[in-house]
Amino acid sequence: MNKRMWPSIRAVCLVVFLAWIGVSTAQGGEVRTLRGSVPLDGADNAPELTKWMPDSHPLPRAYLQQPPLVPHQIESYKIDLRQNKCLTCHSWGKAKETRATKISLTHFRNRFGSEMSDISPQRYFCTQCHVPQKDAPPLVENTFQPVDAVVQ
Ligand code: HEC
Ligand code: HEC
Repeated sequence: MNKRMWPSIRAVCLVVFLAWIGVSTAQGGEVRTLRGSVPLDGADNAPELTKWMPDSHPLPRAYLQQPPLVPHQIESYKIDLRQNKCLTCHSWGKAKETRATKISLTHFRNRFGSEMSDISPQRYFCTQCHVPQKDAPPLVENTFQPVDAVVQ
Protein backbone atom coordinates (compact mmCIF):
# COMPACT_ATOMS: atom_id res chain seq x y z
CA MET A 1 0.00 0.00 0.00
CA ASN A 2 1.18 3.47 -0.81
CA LYS A 3 2.62 5.10 2.30
CA ARG A 4 1.06 8.39 1.33
CA MET A 5 -2.41 6.88 1.79
CA TRP A 6 -1.98 6.39 5.58
CA PRO A 7 -3.04 9.90 6.65
CA SER A 8 -6.27 9.64 4.67
CA ILE A 9 -7.02 6.14 6.00
CA ARG A 10 -6.51 7.43 9.53
CA ALA A 11 -8.79 10.39 8.82
CA VAL A 12 -11.52 8.04 7.53
CA CYS A 13 -11.20 5.81 10.63
CA LEU A 14 -11.49 8.86 12.90
CA VAL A 15 -14.60 10.09 11.11
CA VAL A 16 -16.22 6.63 11.33
CA PHE A 17 -15.36 6.38 15.06
CA LEU A 18 -16.75 9.86 15.83
CA ALA A 19 -19.90 9.09 13.85
CA TRP A 20 -20.36 5.85 15.84
CA ILE A 21 -20.01 7.73 19.15
CA GLY A 22 -22.45 10.36 17.90
CA VAL A 23 -25.04 7.77 16.89
CA SER A 24 -24.80 5.76 20.11
CA THR A 25 -25.11 8.88 22.27
CA ALA A 26 -27.98 10.28 20.23
CA GLN A 27 -29.92 7.03 20.63
CA GLY A 28 -29.36 7.24 24.38
CA GLY A 29 -28.04 3.64 24.05
CA GLU A 30 -26.66 1.74 27.00
CA VAL A 31 -25.12 4.60 28.96
CA ARG A 32 -24.42 3.28 32.43
CA THR A 33 -24.64 5.51 35.47
CA LEU A 34 -23.95 4.97 39.16
CA ARG A 35 -27.59 5.93 39.72
CA GLY A 36 -28.69 2.80 37.87
CA SER A 37 -32.15 2.95 36.37
CA VAL A 38 -33.48 5.50 38.89
CA PRO A 39 -34.69 8.54 36.91
CA LEU A 40 -33.23 11.91 37.84
CA ASP A 41 -36.55 13.17 39.20
CA GLY A 42 -37.24 9.96 41.09
CA ALA A 43 -35.82 11.11 44.41
CA ASP A 44 -38.38 8.98 46.23
CA ASN A 45 -36.83 5.88 44.69
CA ALA A 46 -33.42 6.65 46.10
CA PRO A 47 -31.99 3.66 47.94
CA GLU A 48 -32.72 3.66 51.68
CA LEU A 49 -29.81 4.42 53.97
CA THR A 50 -29.35 1.31 56.03
CA LYS A 51 -26.41 2.06 58.27
CA TRP A 52 -25.74 5.19 60.26
CA MET A 53 -22.41 5.74 61.86
CA PRO A 54 -21.47 8.76 63.95
CA ASP A 55 -18.28 10.42 62.64
CA SER A 56 -17.14 10.98 66.20
CA HIS A 57 -18.58 10.93 69.70
CA PRO A 58 -20.34 14.00 71.06
CA LEU A 59 -18.02 16.25 73.06
CA PRO A 60 -19.20 16.85 76.62
CA ARG A 61 -21.31 19.98 77.02
CA ALA A 62 -19.68 22.91 78.76
CA TYR A 63 -22.90 23.66 80.67
CA LEU A 64 -26.30 22.08 81.00
CA GLN A 65 -28.26 24.43 78.76
CA GLN A 66 -25.74 24.36 75.93
CA PRO A 67 -27.08 23.15 72.57
CA PRO A 68 -24.97 20.01 72.07
CA LEU A 69 -22.43 20.23 69.27
CA VAL A 70 -23.00 18.09 66.19
CA PRO A 71 -20.57 15.13 66.12
CA HIS A 72 -21.04 14.41 62.41
CA GLN A 73 -20.81 16.20 59.08
CA ILE A 74 -23.95 18.09 58.01
CA GLU A 75 -22.74 19.52 54.73
CA SER A 76 -25.51 18.48 52.37
CA TYR A 77 -28.29 18.33 54.97
CA LYS A 78 -31.07 20.62 53.84
CA ILE A 79 -33.47 22.43 56.13
CA ASP A 80 -36.17 24.41 54.36
CA LEU A 81 -39.95 24.80 54.29
CA ARG A 82 -40.55 21.37 52.82
CA GLN A 83 -37.82 19.22 54.30
CA ASN A 84 -35.68 18.95 57.38
CA LYS A 85 -32.93 16.40 56.95
CA CYS A 86 -32.02 16.46 60.65
CA LEU A 87 -35.48 15.27 61.66
CA THR A 88 -35.21 12.24 59.37
CA CYS A 89 -32.88 10.85 62.05
CA HIS A 90 -33.46 12.90 65.19
CA SER A 91 -37.28 12.95 65.35
CA TRP A 92 -38.81 10.72 68.01
CA GLY A 93 -40.26 8.44 65.35
CA LYS A 94 -36.91 7.81 63.68
CA ALA A 95 -34.41 8.04 66.51
CA LYS A 96 -34.67 4.42 67.60
CA GLU A 97 -33.98 3.13 64.12
CA THR A 98 -31.17 5.59 63.38
CA ARG A 99 -29.68 5.55 66.89
CA ALA A 100 -29.49 9.32 66.87
CA THR A 101 -30.33 11.26 70.04
CA LYS A 102 -34.00 12.21 70.13
CA ILE A 103 -34.62 15.94 69.88
CA SER A 104 -35.05 17.33 73.35
CA LEU A 105 -38.55 17.54 74.88
CA THR A 106 -37.93 21.28 75.12
CA HIS A 107 -38.08 21.41 71.32
CA PHE A 108 -41.83 20.79 71.39
CA ARG A 109 -42.53 23.86 73.48
CA ASN A 110 -43.51 27.06 71.74
CA ARG A 111 -42.53 30.53 72.84
CA PHE A 112 -45.61 30.87 75.04
CA GLY A 113 -44.58 27.74 76.93
CA SER A 114 -47.34 25.55 75.45
CA GLU A 115 -46.46 21.98 74.57
CA MET A 116 -47.02 21.22 70.88
CA SER A 117 -47.65 17.91 69.11
CA ASP A 118 -44.71 18.44 66.77
CA ILE A 119 -41.46 20.37 66.79
CA SER A 120 -41.92 24.03 67.64
CA PRO A 121 -41.26 26.46 64.79
CA GLN A 122 -38.73 28.07 67.13
CA ARG A 123 -36.63 24.91 66.99
CA TYR A 124 -37.10 23.99 63.35
CA PHE A 125 -33.88 25.49 62.00
CA CYS A 126 -31.50 23.26 63.95
CA THR A 127 -28.26 24.84 62.76
CA GLN A 128 -29.33 28.14 64.29
CA CYS A 129 -28.15 26.63 67.58
CA HIS A 130 -26.36 23.34 66.82
CA VAL A 131 -23.02 23.64 65.07
CA PRO A 132 -20.59 20.89 64.07
CA GLN A 133 -17.90 20.23 66.64
CA LYS A 134 -14.23 20.71 65.98
CA ASP A 135 -11.30 19.75 68.17
CA ALA A 136 -9.45 23.04 67.75
CA PRO A 137 -7.77 25.37 70.23
CA PRO A 138 -10.11 28.17 71.42
CA LEU A 139 -9.79 31.42 69.48
CA VAL A 140 -9.96 33.48 72.64
CA GLU A 141 -9.03 32.55 76.20
CA ASN A 142 -11.99 31.40 78.25
CA THR A 143 -12.06 30.67 81.97
CA PHE A 144 -15.74 29.66 82.12
CA GLN A 145 -16.62 27.03 84.73
CA PRO A 146 -20.05 25.38 84.95
CA VAL A 147 -21.78 25.49 88.34
CA ASP A 148 -21.05 22.37 90.39
CA ALA A 149 -24.66 21.42 91.09
CA VAL A 150 -25.50 20.72 87.45
CA VAL A 151 -22.17 19.48 86.12
CA GLN A 152 -22.72 16.53 83.76
C1 HEC B 1 -28.36 10.04 58.99
C2 HEC B 1 -28.86 10.32 60.32
C3 HEC B 1 -28.59 11.70 60.90
C4 HEC B 1 -28.90 12.92 60.33
C5 HEC B 1 -29.53 13.21 58.98
C6 HEC B 1 -28.50 13.91 61.32
N1 HEC B 1 -27.98 13.29 62.43
FE1 HEC B 1 -27.32 14.20 64.10
N2 HEC B 1 -26.74 12.41 64.89
C7 HEC B 1 -26.94 11.18 64.28
C8 HEC B 1 -26.32 10.14 65.09
C9 HEC B 1 -26.31 8.64 64.77
C10 HEC B 1 -25.75 10.79 66.20
C11 HEC B 1 -24.86 10.17 67.26
C12 HEC B 1 -25.43 10.02 68.57
C13 HEC B 1 -24.32 9.60 69.55
O1 HEC B 1 -23.20 9.23 69.15
O2 HEC B 1 -24.57 9.69 70.75
C14 HEC B 1 -26.05 12.21 66.04
C15 HEC B 1 -25.68 13.18 66.96
C16 HEC B 1 -26.10 14.51 66.89
C17 HEC B 1 -25.97 15.49 67.96
C18 HEC B 1 -25.32 15.25 69.33
C19 HEC B 1 -26.38 14.88 70.32
C20 HEC B 1 -25.81 14.61 71.69
O3 HEC B 1 -26.30 13.68 72.32
O4 HEC B 1 -24.92 15.32 72.14
C21 HEC B 1 -26.50 16.66 67.50
C22 HEC B 1 -26.58 17.98 68.24
C23 HEC B 1 -26.96 16.42 66.15
N3 HEC B 1 -26.71 15.11 65.81
C24 HEC B 1 -27.56 17.38 65.36
C25 HEC B 1 -27.92 17.18 64.04
C26 HEC B 1 -28.34 18.25 63.15
C27 HEC B 1 -28.45 19.72 63.53
C28 HEC B 1 -28.62 17.65 61.95
C29 HEC B 1 -29.06 18.33 60.66
C30 HEC B 1 -28.24 19.45 60.20
C31 HEC B 1 -28.40 16.23 62.10
N4 HEC B 1 -27.95 15.99 63.38
C32 HEC B 1 -28.64 15.27 61.11
C33 HEC B 1 -27.60 10.96 63.09
C34 HEC B 1 -28.03 11.94 62.21
C1 HEC C 1 -33.15 27.81 69.55
C2 HEC C 1 -32.03 26.89 69.65
C3 HEC C 1 -32.22 25.46 69.20
C4 HEC C 1 -32.74 25.00 68.01
C5 HEC C 1 -33.27 25.82 66.83
C6 HEC C 1 -32.65 23.55 68.06
N1 HEC C 1 -32.08 23.15 69.25
FE1 HEC C 1 -31.65 21.26 69.82
N2 HEC C 1 -31.08 21.92 71.64
C7 HEC C 1 -30.99 23.24 72.02
C8 HEC C 1 -30.58 23.31 73.42
C9 HEC C 1 -30.35 24.60 74.21
C10 HEC C 1 -30.43 21.98 73.89
C11 HEC C 1 -30.01 21.51 75.30
C12 HEC C 1 -31.05 21.83 76.32
C13 HEC C 1 -32.36 21.23 75.99
O1 HEC C 1 -32.53 20.02 76.04
O2 HEC C 1 -33.24 22.03 75.61
C14 HEC C 1 -30.76 21.13 72.73
C15 HEC C 1 -30.74 19.74 72.76
C16 HEC C 1 -30.80 18.95 71.61
C17 HEC C 1 -30.49 17.53 71.58
C18 HEC C 1 -30.06 16.67 72.75
C19 HEC C 1 -31.25 16.08 73.44
C20 HEC C 1 -30.88 15.25 74.64
O3 HEC C 1 -31.75 14.53 75.11
O4 HEC C 1 -29.75 15.31 75.12
C21 HEC C 1 -30.65 17.13 70.28
C22 HEC C 1 -30.45 15.73 69.72
C23 HEC C 1 -31.09 18.27 69.52
N3 HEC C 1 -31.18 19.37 70.37
C24 HEC C 1 -31.37 18.26 68.17
C25 HEC C 1 -31.97 19.33 67.49
C26 HEC C 1 -32.47 19.24 66.14
C27 HEC C 1 -32.41 17.99 65.26
C28 HEC C 1 -32.99 20.47 65.83
C29 HEC C 1 -33.73 20.89 64.58
C30 HEC C 1 -34.91 20.11 64.23
C31 HEC C 1 -32.76 21.34 66.99
N4 HEC C 1 -32.16 20.59 67.98
C32 HEC C 1 -33.08 22.70 67.05
C33 HEC C 1 -31.22 24.33 71.23
C34 HEC C 1 -31.81 24.29 69.97
